[in-house]
Amino acid sequence: MSKRKQLLSQTIEHIDITRHNVVPLVDAMRHMAYSARDLARAAEIYDRMLGDKECGVILCLAGSLVSAGLKQVFVDMVRNRMVDAVVSTGANIVDQDFFEALGFRHYIASERLKAGLDDDQLREAHIDRIYDTLIDEDELRICDDTTRQIADGLAPRPYSSREFIREMGAYLAEHGKTKDSIVLAAYEEEVPIFCPAFSDCSAGFGLVAHQHARGDQPKVSIDGVKDFYELTQLKIHNPTTGIFMLGGGVPKNFTQDIVVAAEILGEDPPMHKYAVQVTVADVRDGALSSSTLKEASSWGKVDTTFEQMVYSEATLAVPLIVGYAYHKGTWKKRKAKGWTRLLEPAPAAVG
Ligand SMILES: NC(=O)c1ccc[n+]([C@@H]2O[C@H](COP(=O)([O-])OP(=O)(O)OC[C@H]3O[C@@H](n4cnc5c(N)ncnc54)[C@H](O)[C@@H]3O)[C@@H](O)[C@H]2O)c1
Repeated sequence: MSKRKQLLSQTIEHIDITRHNVVPLVDAMRHMAYSARDLARAAEIYDRMLGDKECGVILCLAGSLVSAGLKQVFVDMVRNRMVDAVVSTGANIVDQDFFEALGFRHYIASERLKAGLDDDQLREAHIDRIYDTLIDEDELRICDDTTRQIADGLAPRPYSSREFIREMGAYLAEHGKTKDSIVLAAYEEEVPIFCPAFSDCSAGFGLVAHQHARGDQPKVSIDGVKDFYELTQLKIHNPTTGIFMLGGGVPKNFTQDIVVAAEILGEDPPMHKYAVQVTVADVRDGALSSSTLKEASSWGKVDTTFEQMVYSEATLAVPLIVGYAYHKGTWKKRKAKGWTRLLEPAPAAVG
């Protein structure tokens, strides 16, 4: 076996929450202290969101979560009406989910590689590293180029990232190698996905190539304001909202801000009624990712009755929180909101 093949041999396997009933475990954690009790309360709040018929649930993803083995959790959330919209970094949606849907995988790095001792050899072998995970860079280039091909096939105009990602879903419906994809599931279940910083990922490379090739001719572009406008329309249409945020970053602020954007459009929306954030970010830097949900209430964005910060790395906390809600089964009585339909053909038709 070649050195390269050897390095890329042990695949990351996505955890299947449907196979592990964590309800008794999380219930027991409620009677403990510190992060265990915070996590149990967060799980309860997420389940409460799913039981509130009025509530639209928005999942926010930052950090490298899909490559880390959490993909199937998000797919199950989309397919089981446990989320109505996703706001994410492009990395999770394109470099990681769409990438795997094209038939590629993420791989486990050995302890030595994880320590960064052989990064020069990885570079030579066209292998990228995310901490203890490896990616074949040649395959990532195919992912970049597939987004270029999708752009080349579209009418040249500005698109929201949500519209473009829907086209990626349509592509996967025809050419995808697996049903287990967030982009494909969201396309099929009419769950909109927004990536507010869409150019900062694999799709950015594809779109740069597309725009370069078009020169002075009309071209596809991404309209970030359109994203914000569309997401705000959802808040106006469905005033009761719950946000489930992993990591922090652009998706967190973008989603919290739709309350203020709706106000600017002359509406009087309530703050986000429910909010849970799982993060390792530390509050003392004054940054967005670390800012508490109580702090967000000072900006008029998040109500403080049902909010919970969980200070944990996401691969530990997410299977427990979502697994709890999955096995509680409150979601079974939930109707799909089909928010994609509300945004097409034009957001002006909503509200
Ligand atoms: N993350 C990647 O591997 C990657 C790859 C390519 C491009 N990008 C681009 O970089 C930009 C920033 O990405 P980002 O938001 O992932 O940045 P980030 O890694 O800075 O994450 C944002 C916040 O989330 C917290 N966080 C991250 N991972 C976590 C985890 N596993 N558990 C708990 N908390 C966690 C961090 O502490 C940080 O405060 C985006 O535009 C993205 O598309 C990222």
